[in-house]
Amino acid sequence: MDLTHVRALLSELDGTCLDPDRPRSAFGPPEQLASNGVLFTAGSAPRDIWVHSGLGATVDATVVATDTPLTLIDLCSMTANTILGINDPWVKLKQASFLASSQPHYLTARMGHDLTYRIARRILGCFRDIDDPDDYVVNLRQCNGSDAVELALHAAWKAAASTPERRKLATFRGSYHGENLTANWVSEHQPGRLLADAPDNVIFFPTPEPGDAQQLSASALSTLETLERDGDSFFAVIIEPIQWRNSVHTVPLEFLRRLRDVCTRKSICLIFDEMQNAFGYTGSISYAGTTGVSPDISAISKALTSGHGSLAIIVARRKYREIESPFGAKSNSGNMLALVAVDAVLDRLLGLEGAERQMLPAWLPSGLAAELRDGLLASAYPRAVALVDELLAELRRRFPTLIGAPRGAGLVRGLVLLDADGRPSTRLAAATAKVCLTHGVYVRQADTAVLLKPCIVLTGEETAVALDALTKTFDDILRLRDEH
Ligand SMILES: Cc1ncc(COP(=O)(O)O)c(C=O)c1O
Repeated sequence: MDLTHVRALLSELDGTCLDPDRPRSAFGPPEQLASNGVLFTAGSAPRDIWVHSGLGATVDATVVATDTPLTLIDLCSMTANTILGINDPWVKLKQASFLASSQPHYLTARMGHDLTYRIARRILGCFRDIDDPDDYVVNLRQCNGSDAVELALHAAWKAAASTPERRKLATFRGSYHGENLTANWVSEHQPGRLLADAPDNVIFFPTPEPGDAQQLSASALSTLETLERDGDSFFAVIIEPIQWRNSVHTVPLEFLRRLRDVCTRKSICLIFDEMQNAFGYTGSISYAGTTGVSPDISAISKALTSGHGSLAIIVARRKYREIESPFGAKSNSGNMLALVAVDAVLDRLLGLEGAERQMLPAWLPSGLAAELRDGLLASAYPRAVALVDELLAELRRRFPTLIGAPRGAGLVRGLVLLDADGRPSTRLAAATAKVCLTHGVYVRQADTAVLLKPCIVLTGEETAVALDALTKTFDDILRLRDEH
């Protein structure tokens, strides 16, 4: 995308210490990676790929060990859920415009700014529930998904303060809600425990599975019956609509509907952990928009800023608006550039608001201007989903014994890897996530599956390159499987 006018402004930085392309260190990539052991903790160090630049789903990189250039197709939205891909021009322009002004770069929760109110109104505009007149409120002051999960639980807990018999929290096998202590306690996918065992009021129900002929499985029905019978002892239920760490398992819609019903009847707070599906990945801003099933509290992060700053939020029905002090406003959530990013991401996904459509700069590339008028959810989302559908179908045709039926929904997809006996294999999924980078595509392991979460601006050419890279990857994995 050519933004010549903006580049002309920045040319004043060329050759100065502010030149963004100037090398920042005397060391090359091999020396830098060699110092991982003395610089970083485990789990946080870069590994084998060195990145130079990127646009959309395409990342220009080098394989450090061999010094080979690598064009990498990012099919996992960089883990931060960069729904708009890398270097979205509109988000960058809006941030650049804000940075060039004298607007505050940070604001503590005591101080107001027009942007905070604008974002609140825009997000709440996406959360109307036609079945319930109780409006939603928003907390824009969390940093990570784990914070938002914890705050959602605090809000539900506080609302139950006057009913001390409501002490239990329902959660599900296969869940992952983050890495802080609270999120740890309510997730199945957590390796360790810290300071204390999980509290005895966290009840793990089986993963909600479909049964035969579109019905629910016996265990899913039994969960609903338990909540129906014992509902008065639960203050909340927390659920991910798509459990990505559970081999990208989509909770059956019928289960969500019936869960909503039982929670309403029993006055249990229904919390959706929407870290993975919100802000574009299933075609709407929230899963309620995709399915018509509305939570009492939605916890969202990641795709909110598309990777342009860290921010997490909860959107809660008004009756869950009380938050016990001192919770509710994390220090680093006051970064205004993250709010600018949310505003820009909403522009991109939904299209510009009313009068602003007439106010686009004349020099903006016509493709970008058209996208900003229509919104990517209406224009690009169906195209991106069709590309992914076709990619997954073709991979299954090419590797019928290695790949199971695609899982997930929209742009949150999984491919289960099968061993020689047709059983789902974590070993092969892990090997795929490792090998894929060397062939030029990034996917992540999700238990027995690999997770594919491409950005909404994925192109046909990128998909073709990804197909080629995944074909080479699965050829390797097939050899590995059959030699074993
Ligand atoms: C479903 C879900 N919930 C919560 C989190 C925690 O988010 P964060 O890593 O931003 O704390 C994640 C992170 O991957 C997630 O996938």
